[in-house]
Amino acid sequence: MPILTGDVARYLTELRPERSPVMREMEELAARDNVPIVHWETGRLLAALCRTLDPVVLEVGTAIGYSTLHMAEQLERGRVVTLERDAARAQQARDFLSGARVADRVELVEGDARETIVSVEGPFDLLFVDATKTEYREYIELAEPKLAPRALMVVDNLLMSGDVAAPPGAQTTWPEESLASARALNSELVGGEGWVGCVLPVGDGIGVAARA
Ligand SMILES: C[S@@+](CC[C@H](N)C(=O)[O-])C[C@H]1O[C@@H](n2cnc3c(N)ncnc32)[C@H](O)[C@@H]1O
Repeated sequence: MPILTGDVARYLTELRPERSPVMREMEELAARDNVPIVHWETGRLLAALCRTLDPVVLEVGTAIGYSTLHMAEQLERGRVVTLERDAARAQQARDFLSGARVADRVELVEGDARETIVSVEGPFDLLFVDATKTEYREYIELAEPKLAPRALMVVDNLLMSGDVAAPPGAQTTWPEESLASARALNSELVGGEGWVGCVLPVGDGIGVAARA
């Protein structure tokens, strides 16, 4: 379920421009095979950040490389190191990223991010977190030593189709433990002293934060 519904949702969807053939093919495959990819607006926000910062990016959760492509397209000297544990999806991502001619800006590291983060080489200017929801805190803790001092972090699915705002006992589509993880992280990013952060209703809800 999208967070936004009705006229605003329709308006924003219709505002989306034509995608490149590769990006369109990725969206079609994701819809057909139920691959969870970021909303176009989330990808585009990442793209704008990459355009202006030209960062070295650490992405946790590649899937078929859709968010990776949004970012990689905008990089000149920057690059994306992206982590994926599903070998079949990693191969699909490689094929798509080659087809889009951005493979030279992307290093795809296969394996469980909780093991591979320690071996990747930073410093990273942008951390994008989009893998197993209950593992988010672990990824962030493992990635922190690899981040540049003023690195930016973007975290996807922090509103979980709106379920994070459901009253206690309400029926939700997202599992309770994912909701608990998202609520805890949202409180920390927005209200904790360790972050300058916010949660934005873009896509499925994204956290945007930097270390205080
Ligand atoms: C939501 S999808 C990523 C979507 C991608 N960021 C995009 O928008 O195109 C999450 C991906 O993270 C991968 N994943 C989940 N837990 C992981 C882990 N511990 N280490 C590496 N990859 C993981 C899953 O296999 C899945 O492909």
